[in-house]
Amino acid sequence: MTVAADIADASLAPAGKLRIEWAEQQMPVLRQIKERFAQERPLEGQRLAACLHVTTETANLMRTLAAGGAEVALCASNPLSTQDETAASLVHDFDIPVYAVRGEDRDTYYAHLNAALDMKPTITMDDGADLVSTIHSERTDLVEHIIGGTEETTTGVIRLRSMAATQELRYPIVAVNDAMTKHLFDNRFGTGQSTIDGIIRATNILLAGRNVVVCGFGMCGRGVAMRAHGMGARVTVCEVDPLRALEAVMEGYEVMSIARAAEQGDVFVTVTGDTAVIRGEHMERMKDGAILCNSGHFDVEITLRDLQAKATSVRTIRPSLQQYELPDGRRINVLGEGRLVNLAAAEGHPASVMDMSFANQALCSEFIAGRPRLALDVHTVPEQIDAHVAELKLAAMGVEIDTLTQEQKEYLTSWRQGT
Ligand code: ADE
Repeated sequence: MTVAADIADASLAPAGKLRIEWAEQQMPVLRQIKERFAQERPLEGQRLAACLHVTTETANLMRTLAAGGAEVALCASNPLSTQDETAASLVHDFDIPVYAVRGEDRDTYYAHLNAALDMKPTITMDDGADLVSTIHSERTDLVEHIIGGTEETTTGVIRLRSMAATQELRYPIVAVNDAMTKHLFDNRFGTGQSTIDGIIRATNILLAGRNVVVCGFGMCGRGVAMRAHGMGARVTVCEVDPLRALEAVMEGYEVMSIARAAEQGDVFVTVTGDTAVIRGEHMERMKDGAILCNSGHFDVEITLRDLQAKATSVRTIRPSLQQYELPDGRRINVLGEGRLVNLAAAEGHPASVMDMSFANQALCSEFIAGRPRLALDVHTVPEQIDAHVAELKLAAMGVEIDTLTQEQKEYLTSWRQGT
């Protein structure tokens, strides 16, 4: 081992390398950026600490950042999402320090985060804002080195905006999640497909004819509802926002309170980003055999301790599937310990959608490194980056689109033509 690391098993590296290469084949946009980065080295001199799900897609992002000249270190953004073979290959084949072991406990999770921070980063890259929050609470000495950070996910952006609102944020952040080429695709098509994938891998149930209850109708919830419907499920949506609820109704879904849905659902998926969405009072009403899972960032959406308190026994039936038996004999099944089911029980979003998310990450790191320091705030991704990622993706897919004629441009910029 040439670089510092804490990983599960170095002998997994060859398997990891093949999978990283397979993912790379589905990531043409990131590949092009990597080639340009290798020529131009826009990240030369930067130290970049990343706290992301340690997957094959992330591995290709790390390779891209390293090709751009950055010194990088990677730790996991979730204890259950690490692919140990990917971590092994990053260390052994690509000389990238990784601190991540699938199934690590909370103390190890934070020890790994701190190990990545020991590089004294100039740029941080988060998925859920754990690096930023650790730096701001326990490692404030690091702030002086940092020129900026990026954030991958909705939950992280919400945390960071609340830090900015109370003037507690101490370095600027670019909210990669808010790029159109990120949340319109990754959150919807990525979460949609990978959540269904996780449910199926964990249970092997037939979705056709089942009642799937989706809690939360943001971009991720829309994706899950759409794909569950596509598999033949009857979809119920629970939502607190009246506009989103109305949209769900007009999309043709049943919309109701979680209290009512609890009695009818076969499979429950939380994707709200909020806490305590499915609680003991709802579990009381569920059918025997109900399946609960979460695809929101943190494992707080299903109040598992309520179930643990009620249960007379718990058994691991299959990998990622624990069955709780209640005093009245009903069995409630929980997937992936209530953590992100798409990463705990499957492999996360497919590479071809992460291609766009991680192209944004790479280009936003270049943006932060290549300009005077950004103002202290949470910034949106520059429109040119978003448009560039969309153009590269379309080109890679071989899709040609129209351009406006002169007449059309004039029409769109003039108010004089009416009926
Ligand atoms: N988040 C969701 N899916 C992911 C993946 N495949 N890699 C990294 N982060 C992810």
